Amino acid sequence: MANSKTVLIKIKRQDDPNSKPYWEEFELPHRPGMNVTSSLMDIAANPVTKDGKKTTPITYDSNCLEEICGSCAMLINGKARMACSALIDKLEQPVKLEPFSKFPVVRDLSVDRSVLFENLKKVKAWVPTDGTYDLGAGPRQSAEQQEMNYPLSRCISCCCCMEACPQFNDKTGFVGAATISQVRLFNNHPIGSALKVERLKALMGDGGIQECGYAQNCVEVCPKDIPLTKSIADVGGQVMWQAVKDLFRT
Ligand code: SF4
Ligand code: SF4
Ligand code: FES
Repeated sequence: MANSKTVLIKIKRQDDPNSKPYWEEFELPHRPGMNVTSSLMDIAANPVTKDGKKTTPITYDSNCLEEICGSCAMLINGKARMACSALIDKLEQPVKLEPFSKFPVVRDLSVDRSVLFENLKKVKAWVPTDGTYDLGAGPRQSAEQQEMNYPLSRCISCCCCMEACPQFNDKTGFVGAATISQVRLFNNHPIGSALKVERLKALMGDGGIQECGYAQNCVEVCPKDIPLTKSIADVGGQVMWQAVKDLFRT
């Protein structure tokens, strides 16, 4: 017997960064195990709306299809999450897809998330090892250090934590939880810690760590279960300690 089960998907579309958004609805044949990304692929193969109108394929980002590259983040039924791991059978229908609301739309579901990369540059989220000669093996990290750092290193730069954060907006200029957590990671690193003071200073003042209202939305949406509120508390302590040291130095 033919499978007559269908899936209803409503997508908020936008043709370019400056045009007005509009909604389109699609009805797809149900397939076992389908997810949001595979549904978008099905629409691309036959871009016809529920009302039978021919349209253009949906623009969206995706790469790894296994929650590793961080590119496919969007609002799915109002929640910031990854399209490649969102199983259709576990979602309420119609499945509503929207681009992130706090990032500039490039087209349809694709947004410009470069603000995160700019923020990571501001806090020097890297290990400074550039040089013209062989620096030899780096210092060993203890098992305890590795255990603390590994979960922090799992960040995929998806920006879900920033989209969900009430404090991440144009008014505050808040850097967001992902950047703060990367400061914790690189300050914990035996070589990365050489830039610790510069990182902490970058988190002082407007847009810095004090903008966090500790609402904890970030930790709830992080697809990699990164302990973001712990990172915020830890780095907040480091920033405060640095501010006290600076006070006595002046
Ligand atoms: S704890 Fe709340 S305010 Fe702070 S980064 Fe997370 S979501 Fe934003
Ligand atoms: S901390 Fe989590 S939610 Fe935020 S960018 Fe990294 S992986 Fe995504
Ligand atoms: S496609 Fe890479 S995380 Fe979804």
